[in-house]
Amino acid sequence: MKEIREVGVLGCGAMGSGIAQVLATAGYAVVVREPQEELLKKGMVRIEKGLERAVEKGQLDSASRDQALRRLRGVISLEEMKDCHLIIEALPEEIGLKKEHLRKLDALCPASTILASNTSSLMITELAASTGRPEKVIGLHFFNPPAVMNLVEIVRTPFTSSRTLKVVQEFVASLPKTSILVPDRCGFVVNRLLIPYLLDAIQSLDNGLASVQDIDTGMRLGCGHPMGPLALSDFIGLDILLHISEVMFAEYRERRFAPPPLLRRMVTAGWLGKKAGRGFYEYRGQVPRPGFLDLRGE
Ligand code: CAA
Repeated sequence: MKEIREVGVLGCGAMGSGIAQVLATAGYAVVVREPQEELLKKGMVRIEKGLERAVEKGQLDSASRDQALRRLRGVISLEEMKDCHLIIEALPEEIGLKKEHLRKLDALCPASTILASNTSSLMITELAASTGRPEKVIGLHFFNPPAVMNLVEIVRTPFTSSRTLKVVQEFVASLPKTSILVPDRCGFVVNRLLIPYLLDAIQSLDNGLASVQDIDTGMRLGCGHPMGPLALSDFIGLDILLHISEVMFAEYRERRFAPPPLLRRMVTAGWLGKKAGRGFYEYRGQVPRPGFLDLRGE
């Protein structure tokens, strides 16, 4: 029998709901937890919409969608996750909050439960060290949107046992997703390369190199990327991008990770990207249009 059959997802925001969608579609029983009824409802609706989107795109038939929905259980209490074989936390990127939840799960769950974090920049070793089972704590970094992006970074710490690694590698392959094994270095592999690129695009825009549209069109058509760097920054969320860049800059002290002044100002102005309706683009109409020039008052 497979070692992992029931999986917990802690947090049902953009990443948690997407991860839950992937797991339920792959046949796992999924327990999704949010601490308040209202947040849980919102999260479950997000998962339903994601599954609906997959049906619309012809990636899933409606019978499989209904089966996936039946595999999902939303809970408020952390205790209801105690029988999960693997729990993936997708909480906000606050190390204290993550450690607090992992400590509680460590106390609740049997010794065999694997605890994973979907953090994009925080230290997995620190999370592992905060539990009594560091050999069973691992990073599982999914990409946004999880239902579409085929990669998962598996982050090994000095504590991670080879048994935990093997079980998790098999689990990721069953989703089915491709995994790469990465060490616990801030930003792992993908963000270490992606974040300086996005920050450079923002600084180049502020330097007047080219317009929002021309920078994005250049990278889309010139390099075959699905989105240009400014549209992708809006998609990730400018507050999240700022946070990752601050964590990476604090770790490496390399200029390429330093947040550009424009990014900080946009976040301060509340222009957080797609989720706020405005970032480098405006998202009010059907088609996003560049909104950045308005911000500059030009
Ligand atoms: N299930 C659930 N949602 C789905 C879906 C599915 N099967 N297929 C698409 N969607 C969602 C998309 O996320 C998008 O959501 P919003 O409307 O909320 O934006 C919407 O449905 C439209 O998707 P479409 O597929 O119709 O649109 P598209 O063809 O333009 O593709 C895209 C959208 C998949 C996002 C594509 O543009 C793309 O691949 N972009 C690059 C994304 C990327 O680089 N992601 C990595 C970000 S970095 C990261 O995640 C790491 C980190 O730590 C910051």
